[in-house]
Amino acid sequence: MSLEFSPSSNIALLRESATIAVSQRAKALKAEGRAIIDLGAGEPDFDTPAFIREAGKAAIDAGHSHYTATEGILPLRAAVAEMAREYGPITSSLVAQDVVISNGSKQSLFNACFCLFGPGDEVLIPTPAWTSYYEMVQLARATPVVVMGDPANELKVTPAMLEAAATPRTRGVMLNSPCNPTGAVYSADELGELLALCHARGWWVIADEIYRRISFEHETPSALQVAPALDNLVVVDGVAKAYAMTGWRVGWSIAPRALTKAMTAFQSHATFHTASVSQYAALAALTRRGEADAAIVEMVAQYRARRDAALRVFAGVPSLPLIRPAGAFYFYFDVSAAFPGHPEAGSAFAARLLEEEGVAIVPGAAFRTPDWVRVSYASPEHDVVEGVTRAVRLWSDLKR
Ligand SMILES: Cc1ncc(COP(=O)(O)O)c(C=O)c1O
Repeated sequence: MSLEFSPSSNIALLRESATIAVSQRAKALKAEGRAIIDLGAGEPDFDTPAFIREAGKAAIDAGHSHYTATEGILPLRAAVAEMAREYGPITSSLVAQDVVISNGSKQSLFNACFCLFGPGDEVLIPTPAWTSYYEMVQLARATPVVVMGDPANELKVTPAMLEAAATPRTRGVMLNSPCNPTGAVYSADELGELLALCHARGWWVIADEIYRRISFEHETPSALQVAPALDNLVVVDGVAKAYAMTGWRVGWSIAPRALTKAMTAFQSHATFHTASVSQYAALAALTRRGEADAAIVEMVAQYRARRDAALRVFAGVPSLPLIRPAGAFYFYFDVSAAFPGHPEAGSAFAARLLEEEGVAIVPGAAFRTPDWVRVSYASPEHDVVEGVTRAVRLWSDLKR
């Protein structure tokens, strides 16, 4: 008997990433020999710093090829806790037992969503937000609730906006600062007010801080610095972006002990632990602080230089609604004026930009804001400036 696949109810609502169509088309055009400037990628173009690569090689030679504990090797968990303690005073009692190491920060986000939310629960997602938040909440069979950010305030949300979207079924909030896709950063006051509301209402907060160390104006505050308490807070971070270690797959959560235990049990049945060698490489990244900081400062300086060079191009079109990014490595802008009335102006714009100008970017539909597009500047400065120049030119031409 032949059997046809029909999706289980677990994945009934699962959507393929909206970024895939553009990136597949970009690959096809490249295969045809066209020169494509790829500003779609959400990952650093830098190689992992040499001292971390060496630590990974040394871990192989030292025979670290066996299973580790589900929650990761103890010294790495201790190093994460030690860094968190520096935010005190409320973090001063954090220890390794509050930390779970995971396959990238993505798995920690998934662990938290799956262990905290379930059928009937609503989770507030300040929008635009990274595409996986909506999917993760849905895979937990909870309901993602879009809370649209204010275009007059860098598409950020306020406590009043969260309150307006809340119902008695609200169980949690996903926060991300600096934000993918906007690059917007919540100030200590803004973040503190959001966290205070969530604590007062008894909502869980999952704070995704994966871009925190890529900040241009001043240091992005951590939820650990401004939260009124830790009992409703999961802070997720990892080495992928700041340390240019995307492929190593090391992230972590810092969470209350009972939740940490549940997430460990859940992860033990899903993936077990992240690669042993990767954990030792991440250990070098977190404990050889002088070398790591120097590498991060150097990479952030390059992101800043690219951002500033591209901002000079954007300055030529002051009527283009653009968020001036204070962190991460993305520009986000509204292209609806180029396609008035189009339900997905961002997708239409990205398709035209790719076909006519050879520049790949990500449509805002991926982030539940279909009028917008995201341009990554995790690419060489020349490509970023050239790509943004072509995007701005196309927008100006279409808008007429
Ligand atoms: C906002 C956000 N969170 C988490 C991740 C996942 O990062 P990791 O490589 O640590 O799983 C990404 C990756 O693009 C991201 O943009």
